[in-house]
Amino acid sequence: MESKWLIYALFTLFLLEGLWCQRCWDQERTALLQLKPFFTKPTHLKNWERGEQNLDCCQWEGIDCNSTSGRVITLNLNYSWFEEESDDYMYTPNGFMRSENVMYLNASLFLPFVELKSLHLAGNGIAGCMENEGFHNLSKVEELILDNSILPTNFFHGIGALTSLKVLSLYGCELNGSLTLQGLSELTHLEVLDVSYNYLGGALSSCLSNLTSLLSLSLDSNKFFGDIALSPLNKLTSLQYLSLSDNHFQIPISLQPFFNHSKLKHLYAENNEFYIDTNTESLEPTFQLNTLLLSGCGDCGAIPNFLYSQHNLEYLHLSHLNLTGEFPIWLLENNTRLKTLSLVNNSLSGPIELTAHSHTSLEDLDISKNFLDGHIPMEIGASSPSLLELKISKNSLTGNIPPSIGDMESLQSLDLSHNNLSGGIPEKLTMGCSSLRLLTLSNNNLQGQIFSEKFSLFQLVELQLNGNHFSGSIPKSLSNCPDLSSIDFSNNNLSGRIPSWMGNMSYLQEIIMSNNGLEGPIPIDFCQLQYLLILDLSNNNIYRSLPSCFGPGHIVHVHLSKNRLEGSLPTQFCKSSSLVTLDLSDNQLSGNIPDCINMLGELSYLILKNNNLEGKIPFQLCKLQKLSLIDLSQNHLSGCIPSCLNLTTNELYNEDNRILSANGQFFSRLFNDTLSVGEPVHFTTKNMAYSYKGRLLTYMSGIDLSCNKLIGEIPYEIGHLSKIRVLNLSHNFLVGGIPSTFSNLKQIESLDLSYNNLSGKIPPELVELYFLSTFSVAYNNLSGKPPARIRQFATFDRSCYQGNPLLCGEPMKSCSTTSPPPMIQEGPTQRREDDGFIDMGVFYRALPIRIITVISSETTVLLMDVQIHSNPKNSQCFHSPFLDVKAQVDDEDMAVMNHIRSDDWVVMFDEHGLDIGSERFAELVGDAGSNVGNYNSLKGC
Ligand SMILES: *[C@@H]1O[C@H](CO)[C@@H](O)[C@H](O)[C@H]1NC(C)=O
Ligand SMILES: *[C@@H]1O[C@H](CO)[C@@H](O)[C@H](O)[C@H]1NC(C)=O
Ligand SMILES: *[C@@H]1O[C@H](CO)[C@@H](O)[C@H](O)[C@H]1NC(C)=O
Ligand SMILES: *[C@@H]1O[C@H](CO)[C@@H](O)[C@H](O)[C@H]1NC(C)=O
Ligand SMILES: *[C@@H]1O[C@H](CO)[C@@H](O)[C@H](O)[C@H]1NC(C)=O
Repeated sequence: MESKWLIYALFTLFLLEGLWCQRCWDQERTALLQLKPFFTKPTHLKNWERGEQNLDCCQWEGIDCNSTSGRVITLNLNYSWFEEESDDYMYTPNGFMRSENVMYLNASLFLPFVELKSLHLAGNGIAGCMENEGFHNLSKVEELILDNSILPTNFFHGIGALTSLKVLSLYGCELNGSLTLQGLSELTHLEVLDVSYNYLGGALSSCLSNLTSLLSLSLDSNKFFGDIALSPLNKLTSLQYLSLSDNHFQIPISLQPFFNHSKLKHLYAENNEFYIDTNTESLEPTFQLNTLLLSGCGDCGAIPNFLYSQHNLEYLHLSHLNLTGEFPIWLLENNTRLKTLSLVNNSLSGPIELTAHSHTSLEDLDISKNFLDGHIPMEIGASSPSLLELKISKNSLTGNIPPSIGDMESLQSLDLSHNNLSGGIPEKLTMGCSSLRLLTLSNNNLQGQIFSEKFSLFQLVELQLNGNHFSGSIPKSLSNCPDLSSIDFSNNNLSGRIPSWMGNMSYLQEIIMSNNGLEGPIPIDFCQLQYLLILDLSNNNIYRSLPSCFGPGHIVHVHLSKNRLEGSLPTQFCKSSSLVTLDLSDNQLSGNIPDCINMLGELSYLILKNNNLEGKIPFQLCKLQKLSLIDLSQNHLSGCIPSCLNLTTNELYNEDNRILSANGQFFSRLFNDTLSVGEPVHFTTKNMAYSYKGRLLTYMSGIDLSCNKLIGEIPYEIGHLSKIRVLNLSHNFLVGGIPSTFSNLKQIESLDLSYNNLSGKIPPELVELYFLSTFSVAYNNLSGKPPARIRQFATFDRSCYQGNPLLCGEPMKSCSTTSPPPMIQEGPTQRREDDGFIDMGVFYRALPIRIITVISSETTVLLMDVQIHSNPKNSQCFHSPFLDVKAQVDDEDMAVMNHIRSDDWVVMFDEHGLDIGSERFAELVGDAGSNVGNYNSLKGC
């Protein structure tokens, strides 16, 4: 009985299956199989096969049928074209034609699908329709998706034939020209239009106002311009969703043009230009927005009135608008569902106020870069318990970090950097915020131990505490953070040993602990840090030798200067083939520079100054094709200068500084080039010192071999290094003449050959070195006349030439006299202390620096030429009339050039070269100046 029942059931199933099969129409199945050859991506359309088992094409991938009629209604062929096969051949027969990387649509292929409503062809390289086989064949289609195609400008021509169309999506289709809407304006049923991420420009065509059914319009990321108040968007009052972001629209901050759009819920208008409109009257908007994103360059005054009537907002961004007034607590009170509030980079002032227990929905609060002061509300934890992200950096907050932040159990990112906060990190925070991944408290006045024993921030990934007064040792609790990848403790008062357990934190990429009082050897366990990219322990009290096994495979920047490291450079280091910066200056390293240095193929900055290195300068240095700065000064190196030395300069800094347009691209290139930390560019305080170091060094190209025991002649080949800016060979035992090839050093700003045994004439061609601002050949055996006193050379006085008894003529004694050389000369020691230009540190300071300030939304650029000198009176000495671009500083991090001392003077010039005053560096850069390093200058040999 039972088995009979089973058979019956099976039979019924079979029958049903059979019926279902019937429901895919033969001609549609055939038509699908005809389409298949054109969509060759192997992972797609897998089950599009002939055969008895596959008769029901409604079950095929990407197909939807009407369950009543069995007809295909949706055909989803997105991203189904496998480009790699497309090399050179074409399909010409009755279907698509494909050549190179494009495909032409034969719309008649879709004719068999009589009920087809949705056609998705995104990402197939479609470049338009075949002639006479175009849109009229698709007149019943309601939804056409062609995103990421390569459509021609005339694409819209004839599109009016798609009379049923409701949804048209042309995202990222390389469309350019203006959106003339020929044809498009006939699509009166159109409800959704997306032309975002194209190159469309011009003002919006008035034909757009015919599309009165539009519910959703995406125009973002194009080049549209024009005043929104005068645009056809006014008429599209059915809109629910409107995206205008990343264009050049002028938008009145009142949003009055949209007051009649009663259904508008989502308005995206970031990165446009906002203005204050005058005729706002007392009108009220009819909309209740859910999402409002406004940002751009603008000076928009008070927070706009229409916001007072909104109470459904969930996502609100009002950034880079220079909005004034107090912190708008009412926005949070009126909009109890608010999840995201971003008011970054405005001019809000006064204290931050929050109401207890009122902002329970708030997840992201970012009010960085305003003028907010006072304390962080004590009860912030209770009033916003659901926060995931809290950013209040770059304000003027004082007082302590409220312990109640510890009540935010979900908090993942906390940034309170660049304020005047004091006190310690509350224990409640380190206990309670157990979801925290990013903790940024840099550049405040925080103090005490970093963390207490009680600690549960086990999820930490980034920890930035630099620029405070933290003391004590590196907290052991960090060893419980398995994901920690970046720590910056630089510029604090930390002491104690560098813990060996750090070597077990296998994901560490950045260890930045410069300018502290850390001591002891670098733990041997650091050899296990295979993902390490940056190690900066400079200016501590690190001693002993580098672990012989130390040579992280991916490391990019190593800064260990100003410690007491001894021993020789381990050859294992040569395995760090990604190394760009190696700064071991001001230590007690001894031994030779290893020959294997030629393995460091990426090395750009080799700074071994002021150690006890001996032996020869290895000619293997010549193999390093990316080297742009060699500083081996103040060692005991002997032998000759290798004539094969070759340096490059970073082309980013070529004469034409147009390349420095403030579009962000430059910075990203710069970062990729010099830092390559593999991150998108974001100028938080993170790595600030590094970005500077990176940037400044990027500009530097030069050789400093001063204060060694080098012998032999100066290789004339050095004169071919036409891009170097500094050459210092002083205080050696060099003989022979000054090569006349030096007149090719067209970029050179500082040339010091003093204190050698050079003889012969000074090549008169040197007057062609227009950028030269510092020059000395003192204390040699040179003879003849100094170069003509013209151009730069008019500014070089006798001190530049003294100590060469046989030199005569201006500015030295006249040649006619035969009396012995004057003995009254300033003593060398005194002279050195007076102008000190033999030292690279002072060279750096003497360099003219153009600061480029990027104001707010990165569209305005203020050029400011800056020269930096150790005191304002000295500025004459170093004045170079040829200001050149040396460093870039954006408004996020106007700061920190490692070699500039905070009490240095900065002389500023406007873009016309007019002196606009001078200021101490510390004042110019404000808070950030605390990171200013102290390149230990004026150190004799
Ligand atoms: C499916 O087809 C039936 C009859 O042809 C039609 O009435 C119905 O509107 C269709 N449904 C859809 C979702 O297209
Ligand atoms: C658009 O609408 C205007 C009236 O508002 C009408 O004169 C014009 O013909 C329409 N254009 C198209 C292409 O339908
Ligand atoms: C921002 O607004 C303040 C106050 O209205 C004004 O003084 C300042 O010049 C504005 N800044 C910019 C960049 O427009
Ligand atoms: C929003 O807050 C403002 C200021 O407190 C108030 O005048 C307004 O009535 C509030 N609006 C709503 C809808 O609650
Ligand atoms: C330095 O190297 C560059 C390319 O790497 C080469 O073009 C140039 O000729 C070299 N210069 C000298 C002086 O060898």
